[in-house]
Amino acid sequence: MGRVTTLVEGGRIVTATDDYVADILIEGGRIRAIGDLAGTEADEIIDASGHVVFPGGIDPHTHLDTPVAGTVISDDFDTGTRAAAVGGTTTIIDFAIQEKGADPRSSLMRWHEMAEGKAAVDYAFHQIITHLPDSLLPSLDGLVTEGVTSFKLFMAYPNVWMLDDGAIFKAMRRTAENGGFIMLHCENGYAIDALVKESLARGDSDPIFHARTRPSLAEDEATRRGIALAEMAGVPLYIVHMSSAGSARAMAEARERGVRAYAETCPHYLLLTDDRLAEPGFRGAQYVCSPPLRPADHHEPLWNGLAAGDLQAVGTDHAPFFFEQRLVGKDDFTKIPNGLPGIEWRVGLLYHYGVAQGRFSLNRFVEITSTNAAKLFGLHPRKGEIAPGSDADLVVFDPAGSTELSLATQVTNCDYNPYEGMVLQGAISAVLLRGRAIVRDGRYVASRPVGSFVRSAESAALSSSTLVS
Ligand code: URP
Ligand code: ZN
Ligand code: ZN
Repeated sequence: MGRVTTLVEGGRIVTATDDYVADILIEGGRIRAIGDLAGTEADEIIDASGHVVFPGGIDPHTHLDTPVAGTVISDDFDTGTRAAAVGGTTTIIDFAIQEKGADPRSSLMRWHEMAEGKAAVDYAFHQIITHLPDSLLPSLDGLVTEGVTSFKLFMAYPNVWMLDDGAIFKAMRRTAENGGFIMLHCENGYAIDALVKESLARGDSDPIFHARTRPSLAEDEATRRGIALAEMAGVPLYIVHMSSAGSARAMAEARERGVRAYAETCPHYLLLTDDRLAEPGFRGAQYVCSPPLRPADHHEPLWNGLAAGDLQAVGTDHAPFFFEQRLVGKDDFTKIPNGLPGIEWRVGLLYHYGVAQGRFSLNRFVEITSTNAAKLFGLHPRKGEIAPGSDADLVVFDPAGSTELSLATQVTNCDYNPYEGMVLQGAISAVLLRGRAIVRDGRYVASRPVGSFVRSAESAALSSSTLVS
C-alpha cells in the first residue's frame, strides 16, 4: 500500500506570516503541496471551507505525571496529551526533573519511559537542572546531543530546586559552547523564604498568604538579574511563566537594547486574579502556583507585551492536582502543591481574548501559540509551520462556533476548571497530527496514542536576534 494521502480543502490558511485560501495535500504525515488542488485524489478529504486552518499549537511548558511535594501531578501522558489534543495543541514540551545528586540524563530516561506509547500528541523535553556541580557540566553537552537542548533553572525554592547565581552563570556559559538554551524561573527565593517564615510565625497560613509572600517585586528583581546574567554570559535567555507588569517592562527594556531575551506568560496570568486564592473552604488552594496570580492591573501589560513582541510565547505551566491532594497544606500554605491546569484551554482562550477581542492579529496568535515556540526550542520548520515538508499538524477551526469551558466536559484529569462557565468564540472542528485526524467535532477520536518524541535542534535564538519577536 502507498503512503496515505489527505486533502484539506478550501480552508483559510493562517501562519505567523501568511493568510490565504488554499488546499493542503498531505502525504505520509507531511505537507506535500499547497495551492489550488481541486480534483486531486486523496484517501481522505477534509472540507475546511469557512474554517481557519492554522498550525497545531505548541505548548512549551507542561508538567505531566511529575512527582511534586509528596504527590504526583494528576494528568499523565495519556490524559494530559488527550486534553492537549482536543484543545488544539499537537506538540507539548514537558519538563524532566533532575533528581538531586543524579546525572540529569538518567532522570530524562524516566520521562521517556513515562511518555512512550502513551502520548496522544508529539512531545519534546526540557531538562530541569536542580543541582550543578562542575563535574556535571559535561552532562549538559550530552543532553544537547540527545535532542534536549533547553535547560530550566530556578532562582526560587532555596534548598529544593534553586541554583545560586554562580551555577546559573556557569550553566549559561556552557550553553554558549554547546548549543543549549537556558530557561529561568525568575523569583527571588531568599527574599520569599524570609517573608514566608514571617507569615507563618504570625499565623498567616491560608492559601492567600502564598500570594502575599511572593510579591511582584520578587519576580521583577529576579527577571532583571537573570537578564543581566545572560547579558554577561553572552547568551540568549528564555524566561518562563512571566506574571508581572514589572517583568514585562524589564523585557521591553532589555530587547530595546538588543539583548536576546525571550519570555512566555500563561493564560492564568492573563485572565485570573489573586482573589481566587481567598476562595472559602480552602478552595483558594486550587489557585496556588508560582509565581502567584496577580491583581488585575498586571493583565493588560502582559497582553500588551505579547502584542508588541516583548513577550513571545504562551505556555500553560500545566500542573493539575485534585482538591484532596492540596489538603496537605490545610494549616500551612507552603505545603500546597503548586500549579494550575491549562493544557486544554490555551489555544481557545488566546483566540477569544486575543484575536476576537482585538488585542492582536490571527498571525500573531499563531506566532505566540505555535511558531515562536517551535523556533525557540529547535522544532521549526518541522513544527509550527504550514509549508511543504512540514509535519501536517493542523487545527481546523470554526470561527463562527463557540466553546463553553466546563468541568463537566473537560478531558483534563482534575476536579475543577479555573475557567468554568466561560463561553469562547470559535470551536475546534478537527485536529490533525502528522496527517491523522485525532480530533473531530471537538472530540478525541484516535483509536490508539500516536504521539512520538521529537528531538529539539538548536534554538533559533542562538543564531539570530530578530527571527523570533
Ligand atoms: O506553580 C508552578 N509553576 N508549578 C510548576 C513548577 C514551575 O515552577 O514551573
Ligand atoms: Zn517555574
Ligand atoms: Zn512549570
